[in-house]
Amino acid sequence: MEQKKWETHNPTGSRRVIVTKILPGSLWLERLIKADCKVEVCTSTDVLSVDDIKSAIGQQCNAVLGQLTEDWGDELFGTLEAAGGTAYSNVAVGFNNVDVDAATKHGIPVGNTPGVLTETTAQMAVALTFAAARRTGEAERFMRAGKYKGWLMTLFLGELLWRKTVGVIGAGRIGANYARMMVEGHKMNLVYYDVYPNQELEDYIAAYGDFLKSRGEAPVACKRADTLEDLLREADCVSLHTVLDDSTHHLINAERLALMKENAILVNTSRGPVVDEAALVGHCRRHPDFRAALDVFEDEPAMKPGLVDLDNVVIVPHIASATRWTREGMATLAASNVAALLRGYPVWNQPDILPFLEADAPRAAPSVVNADDLKLPIFGSR
Ligand code: DGY
Repeated sequence: MEQKKWETHNPTGSRRVIVTKILPGSLWLERLIKADCKVEVCTSTDVLSVDDIKSAIGQQCNAVLGQLTEDWGDELFGTLEAAGGTAYSNVAVGFNNVDVDAATKHGIPVGNTPGVLTETTAQMAVALTFAAARRTGEAERFMRAGKYKGWLMTLFLGELLWRKTVGVIGAGRIGANYARMMVEGHKMNLVYYDVYPNQELEDYIAAYGDFLKSRGEAPVACKRADTLEDLLREADCVSLHTVLDDSTHHLINAERLALMKENAILVNTSRGPVVDEAALVGHCRRHPDFRAALDVFEDEPAMKPGLVDLDNVVIVPHIASATRWTREGMATLAASNVAALLRGYPVWNQPDILPFLEADAPRAAPSVVNADDLKLPIFGSR
């Protein structure tokens, strides 16, 4: 096994915490040091394997801050428990890489980082939507290749989304935020698909429609689709904001792509396997006016054969949450989870997580997904 490089902070700390990747900012480290942690950070950019992480945990380790690229299952949680570990946090809001039942079985709380990715990720989904609609990737490649010989009426004609219909699959925090950006910014009608209705979103858009009417403008409409198929038939652009689990794996497959409009746009900032990527390659090949914009990939970091050659696909390397504020916030929340759990603090129970980004953070773990199963104490309750 290739030796990975590690750097140690606060070597005299009494609690040993492993951090599997370099994290941005400094508040996360301050928080761990304040909790008397010796912090060992892997400085390699390689994705760590289960064996790499097991050897880093070694005989004694109190907690780990891990990454969405790592396979946190029974083997790693068993190793962590055997080393005396009592806390884990993903440095991500998504935790499809974590077997939460296995963590619970080993008595290990699993933290995640909600609340700081919402606007950042929604903005990126908007950026990708328009990159696809207005063909900015193709146009930039054309410029860089020195092919621009003068203004042409027919050069890179794209799609105008103004007053058209945006489809959102998964209307949770990020999906709802994206929906509002598209509806308010571009006066689009919204159709969303979610197992739960989002009444707050529906009320917001109804109020925005009333506002437009009060100014003599046509209102916008919002509806929850009865079926995913209805949404796919109706929307001019579709953005995916679901979690990845068995019910959403290949949610967008060849049959469902075939239902979409010939010139529709599909955006994915959720998780790669929500889309059958090989089917998407085939669809984009056969339908040159269809466009896709992907931040995530089925076999990340690899791409399915042919994807890279398609001009009607925009591809970026899983950067939807990559603003400085968000990534530093994610690191701070993950460290706060671990620091609080090691100190025996309760779990936060309020939707606003931003107080944890202040120097004087609440004495609680911001977000622990198996808190109920482990019967962890909840902030403010006796
Ligand atoms: C997450 O936190 O789940 C995101 O995918 C990171 O961008």
